[in-house]
Amino acid sequence: MSVLAIDAGTTGVTAVVVTAEGTIAARGYQEFSQHFPQPGWVEHAPEEIWQATLAATRAAVAAYDGELTAVGITNQRETVLLWDRETLGSPRRAIVWQDRRTTDICTRLREAGHEDRVRELTGLRLDPYFSGTKLMWLAENEPNTWALVTSGRYAVGTVDSYLIARMTRGTWHVTDVSNACRTLLFDLRTGDWSDELCELFGVPREALPDLVPNWGEIATTDPRAFCDLELPIAGIAGDQQSALFGQTCFDVGDSKCTYGTGSFILTNTGSELVRSEAGLLSTAAWRSPDGVLTYALEGAIFVTGAAVQWLRDGLQIVGSAAETEAIAATVADSEGVVFVPALTGLGAPHWDPDARGMIIGLTRGTTRAHIVRATLEAIAFEVRDVLETLPGWADGSTPVLRVDGGASDNDLLCQVQADQVGVPVERPRIVETTALGAAFLAGLGTGLWASVDDLRETWQLDRRFEPAGDQAAADAAHGRWTEAVRRAGGWAQ
Ligand code: G3P
Repeated sequence: MSVLAIDAGTTGVTAVVVTAEGTIAARGYQEFSQHFPQPGWVEHAPEEIWQATLAATRAAVAAYDGELTAVGITNQRETVLLWDRETLGSPRRAIVWQDRRTTDICTRLREAGHEDRVRELTGLRLDPYFSGTKLMWLAENEPNTWALVTSGRYAVGTVDSYLIARMTRGTWHVTDVSNACRTLLFDLRTGDWSDELCELFGVPREALPDLVPNWGEIATTDPRAFCDLELPIAGIAGDQQSALFGQTCFDVGDSKCTYGTGSFILTNTGSELVRSEAGLLSTAAWRSPDGVLTYALEGAIFVTGAAVQWLRDGLQIVGSAAETEAIAATVADSEGVVFVPALTGLGAPHWDPDARGMIIGLTRGTTRAHIVRATLEAIAFEVRDVLETLPGWADGSTPVLRVDGGASDNDLLCQVQADQVGVPVERPRIVETTALGAAFLAGLGTGLWASVDDLRETWQLDRRFEPAGDQAAADAAHGRWTEAVRRAGGWAQ
């Protein structure tokens, strides 16, 4: 018996079949288009996300010869969609988490004095990253569409809610706390939508999904809509919280770093809502069927894997992301070259939407290998900057860092990361931890695993990277990085 997990990410949808032993028995993947209608804007076509979900699922199911008992869903967070409750068609494209069009709305709200209260209720900041100001933008700029939200015809939701609506032919309009808490409309303290925030951002609460636990029997797929499969939807989580679950970070202080388009470091803070003065977000990790809410602190870095993509597609100095390891290894270090990949501003812990990318320290001797190496080093520096702000890091109570996601396959990056953070970096055998987390939730929700202790046993180490021990050299490199970040700050102002 196995469960199906769907990971609807920013650039594509992955479907995997996960066995009771926690291994991946089959997989499917389908990319979808990225739309950039204006500089700084990023949109996705909802129908394409849905078609990619069907294609990835069909491929995974076709490659698996056994019984499926449940489906789990994980997704890119903060991205907002509208759809017609009857036809399930969307009146416009989704506004994606990376989209910066609401920078002015954030400034307006900040100048009107709302930031402290928003932070207090949500654990977030006024940044275009989150859904609330994206919805405000829709209301202000597309009033005819918005009128059908307020009339109740259109539903509002994140990608998880949308997929569940499609998979159940509109029967269910639900989400979970890990997605809800990224919208700016959710009160992190009560664990419920906030009327005060709905009013501030002008979003009718009735348009929002109902909140359900992260695992348990949440809904049932309709075989007419979903690849002839009638399965309980038994797990939901936003992708970063799902990766935390997939890494079995169940105890307070357990931390993981997922290297994707960006990188997201989450640390489990248990039932305590911990606040950070150092630029971390407070966030909901998951809520059990008996209502226990687990929190996390998060450092969201916007551009890491995307910097490697830029080397490939923008600068065109590498043919593939995988190639970067061998190219970077041809030089011992970056010879003083530092790349600040602030291509869409800087997220945690700097939060500077006006920072822009910068490569500094070039000489006549600089080659592409130095730039490629500086890119991998930048990822490690960005992660170090976040880790240094985590409570429990400085005092050594976080003894290892678990990594996952595409770029964790890169041994050189893992080694530089360990050197930079001064603790061992552990890579599990399965680095598709985001999808694994959704499978774990669905399996827990349907009894494939009896408890989280059963899940801990499935975690297997692939490789542990020990810090090289030359902390002075690592700190000197990091010092150059810090100075470069300072110089890149505010550039777009
Ligand atoms: O907050 C954004 C995050 O959920 C996106 O993750 O994996 O699609 O880059 P990913």
